[in-house]
Amino acid sequence: MDAIELFSGIGGFRVAADTCAIKTTFANDIDPLACKVYRDHFGDGVLHEGDVRGLVAAIPRHDLLTAGFPCQPFSSAGKKRGIRDPRGTLFEVIVDVVRTHRPRWFVLENVKRLLTMERGLHFATILASLADLDYLIEWRLLNAMHLGLPQNRQRVFIVGEAMPPGEPFRSTGTRLKSTRLASLSDIAHLSVKHREDAARPDRWRPIENHGVRFPHWGLSYDGRFFGFVLPIFSDRGPSVTLKHVLERDVPDEFDFTDATLKWIGKNRAVERFVQGVEILSNQSGGARMGYTIFGVNGVAPTLTSTTSRHYERYRVGDRYRRLTNVEYARIQGFDDDHCRVASVYDQYSLYGNAVPPPMAKWVLERLSSTVQFSNEPRSKRQRNLFEHA
Ligand SMILES: C[S@@+](CC[C@H](N)C(=O)[O-])C[C@H]1O[C@@H](n2cnc3c(N)ncnc32)[C@H](O)[C@@H]1O
Repeated sequence: MDAIELFSGIGGFRVAADTCAIKTTFANDIDPLACKVYRDHFGDGVLHEGDVRGLVAAIPRHDLLTAGFPCQPFSSAGKKRGIRDPRGTLFEVIVDVVRTHRPRWFVLENVKRLLTMERGLHFATILASLADLDYLIEWRLLNAMHLGLPQNRQRVFIVGEAMPPGEPFRSTGTRLKSTRLASLSDIAHLSVKHREDAARPDRWRPIENHGVRFPHWGLSYDGRFFGFVLPIFSDRGPSVTLKHVLERDVPDEFDFTDATLKWIGKNRAVERFVQGVEILSNQSGGARMGYTIFGVNGVAPTLTSTTSRHYERYRVGDRYRRLTNVEYARIQGFDDDHCRVASVYDQYSLYGNAVPPPMAKWVLERLSSTVQFSNEPRSKRQRNLFEHA
């Protein structure tokens, strides 16, 4: 399988593709520093630095397109109510590339709020554009802490699978038998009727005018979708916590300043876990307010590229400090030295922006393993996504 990686950053999808023996033949990012890291790590061969809009013609044919694309507003002009116009956005580049090359798969990654922004209008626009291309779309919200990382990071993954020519998915009587991102146990709680509805595209709701936030899991094709709130790995707590990834002998440059230490003297105890994150104290006693001190018995709050977040405060043993760049790498599932060519200061943003390779890997592995709705024996199960009634 040949893959391309758009908006490649420091190569989160690339790390995952490499471990799945998927060959990346083209990558692109506009950020010189992210490109420097990418080249240092993966060599010079496939990376094209620059604005993706000027490089579309250089993209080779491929079987898999991956992209953690920037979230931009869609224009409110020129489309039907409930769906906006993606023209002029970076997301449109993805649609163009998929239309031109028709890869067998695409995998996109984005922030959780994509599902809820503007009461679902943003996601409806994305779904409608992708599902128009004759791809079966499946999306699912995943949390890094359920996939072996010590971080509460919720990201939506969108998988598209090209419909083989002549497979009339939209005709009545075609039954969806399997999913990629939801397993049998994930959907076992659905009533029989609900499961049948999932398997019958003619029972799916129109994307247009949906008007409310989209659920955590769903399927979509040709202007329609089916979805529900999946109890995502609800039985699993984090398998790895922060204390498992902390560095030893951390230099004192990561310690709090005296001024901060003085301030936190006014903190009030909270001492509870919120979404896996241990909150020891803060200035209001609420979940996450000024001068919050986090513990290391839980997971980290979402790492981001926002500079102020890089100075979040942790109590580690009897020390108060921020996390190191190496700890950021580990919390995101990268090798300790993945960003070694960037300054310590810049590494935080690069890691915070990236897709964690273990999350990307979980999704890539699911492309080849079909999960069935029915309880048929495995050999039969593996065979086909669809069955004609
Ligand atoms: C959310 S980050 C994706 C990070 C990546 N998945 C990783 O693992 O590091 C979005 C990326 O899009 C890049 N980007 C933004 N505008 C771009 C453009 N016009 N052309 C190419 N890349 C762009 C940014 O530099 C950033 O690295």
